[in-house]
Amino acid sequence: MKICESVSLKGLTTLKIGGVARYFCRVRNEHELQTALQFSKKKEVPLIILGGGSNVLLSDGSISALVAKIDIKGIEWRESKHFVHVLVGAGEIWDTLVEKAVKKGLWGIENLSGIPGTVGAAPIQNIGAYGAEIKNTLKWVKVLDTKTGKSRRLSNKKCEFGYRDSIFKHPKGKALIITHVALRLKKSGTPNLVYKDLKERFKIYDLGFKNKKRELTPAVIRKAVIGIRSKKFPDLRECGTAGSFFKNPIIPKTQFDALKKRYPALPGFPLTADERGYEDMRINADADESLRIIKDKGLKIKIPLAWLLDNVCGLKGFHKGNVALFERQPIVLVNTGGASADEIKKFAEKIVLRVRKETGIDIEWEVQKIY
Ligand code: EPU
Repeated sequence: MKICESVSLKGLTTLKIGGVARYFCRVRNEHELQTALQFSKKKEVPLIILGGGSNVLLSDGSISALVAKIDIKGIEWRESKHFVHVLVGAGEIWDTLVEKAVKKGLWGIENLSGIPGTVGAAPIQNIGAYGAEIKNTLKWVKVLDTKTGKSRRLSNKKCEFGYRDSIFKHPKGKALIITHVALRLKKSGTPNLVYKDLKERFKIYDLGFKNKKRELTPAVIRKAVIGIRSKKFPDLRECGTAGSFFKNPIIPKTQFDALKKRYPALPGFPLTADERGYEDMRINADADESLRIIKDKGLKIKIPLAWLLDNVCGLKGFHKGNVALFERQPIVLVNTGGASADEIKKFAEKIVLRVRKETGIDIEWEVQKIY
């Protein structure tokens, strides 16, 4: 494996921002990852892992580290009676995996179509879209523990998945590098249409056309999801973006109720205390009755930040210099051309302050900052 010096990372992130790494390498297997780890220890620089670069804001100064791009490939399909277990190298492209699974008619990840990035990065933020999350199909991940230098498996439970969250984002998981991901997909299934956009797209199937439901294959769902996404997300060929830049805020019901008084149209989706299965409970807060039947005192509500940015803060399409909130989906921040990392950071901080001022809510970045 070649370790290069002074490599620009700009082309390796979807925000199209990134400075020069002191050292850089592409890791194709676990052995090479071990080599990279040894090298970083010897040179006394941190080891920074890069996947598809689609959820990071990299500093654009010099990055005094060994940056390792994970290129571990391979997809193995193992069939059992009802399932297909798939073992995937962390460097595979997530959407290529989804495409292959869908072509095989397998169920479980079709709603996660069109998400940029690599397979190894997917569990870190527990990628989710259209009522599905990777945690619903993930069995285990294989990790290299950089503290012990040993590889081991981590079960789904041990990954401590939450909304756009996992152990890998927290101090106790920071030493773990994902090398492989094992998913369990179903040979037969039914479409997951809990999410509003998909429900609307396929509402004809709920109107008594039961036999038509068979037409809803994973491939049909994938096509619909890609269609919906293309209308909401900017084209990566035209600008830089990292998808949703912020997380949708999760607030106590009491705070939600107060906001709802001020903004009666505010949508909200109740979560269980541990956020498990929260998307199954996705209910529009307009249906106030549904909210009332949930007795949990610690009830938390997830609200769409896009709605707040648009209807409360009036920031839809807001731009400053080379940074903007995408006009069709304001949770998405775009680098309209030539933005620096600091410009993005300052712009995002401004949005955070504005949301706090208007709503009292502290929003969090979804994108990971590597500075
Ligand atoms: N809305 C507005 N104005 C707008 C756009 C949206 O008011 O201009 C409101 C609408 O009420 C809409 C709501 O915002 O129903 C939510 O928007 P949307 O359904 O497009 O999705 P989201 O909640 O903003 C989340 C994920 C996306 C994922 C989509 C689809 C987060 C942070 N984002 O976005 O994930 O693709 O749902 O399931 O959870 C990502 O994580 O990078 C990402 C793109």
